[in-house]
Amino acid sequence: MSKTWRPATQLVHDGSLRSQYGETSEAIYLTQGFVYESAEAAEARFKGETEGYIYARYGSPTNDMFEKRMCALEGAEEARATASGMAAVTAAILCQVKAGDHIVAARALFGSCRWVVETLAPKYGIECTLVDGRHLENWEKAIRPNTKVFFLESPTNPTLEVIDIAGVAKLANQIGAKVVVDNVFATPIFQKPLELGAHIVVYSATKHIDGQGRSLGGVILSDREWVNEHLQDYYRHTGPAMSPFTAWTLLKGLETLPLRVKQQTENASKIADFLADQPKVAKVIYPGRKDHPQADIVAKQMKGGSTLVAIELKGGKEAAFALQNALQIVKISNNLGDAKSLITHPATTTHKNLTDEARAELGISGGTVRLSAGIEDTDDLIEDFAQALAKVQA
Ligand SMILES: Cc1ncc(COP(=O)(O)O)c(C=O)c1O
Repeated sequence: MSKTWRPATQLVHDGSLRSQYGETSEAIYLTQGFVYESAEAAEARFKGETEGYIYARYGSPTNDMFEKRMCALEGAEEARATASGMAAVTAAILCQVKAGDHIVAARALFGSCRWVVETLAPKYGIECTLVDGRHLENWEKAIRPNTKVFFLESPTNPTLEVIDIAGVAKLANQIGAKVVVDNVFATPIFQKPLELGAHIVVYSATKHIDGQGRSLGGVILSDREWVNEHLQDYYRHTGPAMSPFTAWTLLKGLETLPLRVKQQTENASKIADFLADQPKVAKVIYPGRKDHPQADIVAKQMKGGSTLVAIELKGGKEAAFALQNALQIVKISNNLGDAKSLITHPATTTHKNLTDEARAELGISGGTVRLSAGIEDTDDLIEDFAQALAKVQA
């Protein structure tokens, strides 16, 4: 495959393994195992003397196509597809730490990601410090002699805080730690953490990569050395592998990723501008707006504003619920990245397990809603918000 192709071309063609039938659409190899020509061939495959598949938990052709296409897009040497985004996050972190090690993570994380580092890891003797990731000095202050991993998402879920990935990577390199970036909100179209110095990138492919609300999936991307040293055995023996059917769905999703993300971003940006002028809206946070609190870092590391908007209503929870209930096109759902516009109330859904104090720290109030812009007509979406806001008590 050509390294000179641009993303829109890579996402249609890269990684394709065409069978003897010459199919245009990628084939689904829905098989658990593989047959060897002889006992000697099986032995050689297991010894690693010959190339080829062994068992679908280790890898399989449709998954291979998805992984190769993701590598081309991300500029990574290796990828491993997982059954969900959380399987990717958990594997990427746990495969490289042991009891006695220390993780520094941004406190603004998706609820399950925060549970993995804050609650699960300490059960196995892995310490974790959560920091306000917006300020580099907090990362630096949290470093201990046993710090091995820095973990962050940027922009964050749901209040779209932005973290200086290159700055965190520089600190990590000084102590030989690895930076894991959950790049879901930025999408691979707008942000390339490996180019910014991060070592490992993870995605919930459930979101924009599928983008049509069908499959749960995830992917971990990094360099070959890290994958061979840390991830390979963990992945093969703990079994977070993706189903080949899911890999096929996601290959189809990748083909239209740039088109969808472009339209979603245009919608997000125009809705953000519309809402920012409405009297019932206290605040709009959107990385594509000049008034984003970290617009300077956005300009440095993102090529677009993202498909998500955080909106704070003056009327608190009552107004947030009234707005959601009055919307007709925009559906109430905690998912994101879908072709359909979706809205959620983080305080009572995705972030309900946090304490009131932790939610306040992250800027999640009763009046906060998170919009994931879909690919519908922009004017229809703005009209939907206008009619719904009219029904919200001031
Ligand atoms: C930022 C982020 N990371 C990880 C995940 C987990 O992904 P999945 O639901 O595919 O396990 C999500 C899901 O909402 C997310 O928003």
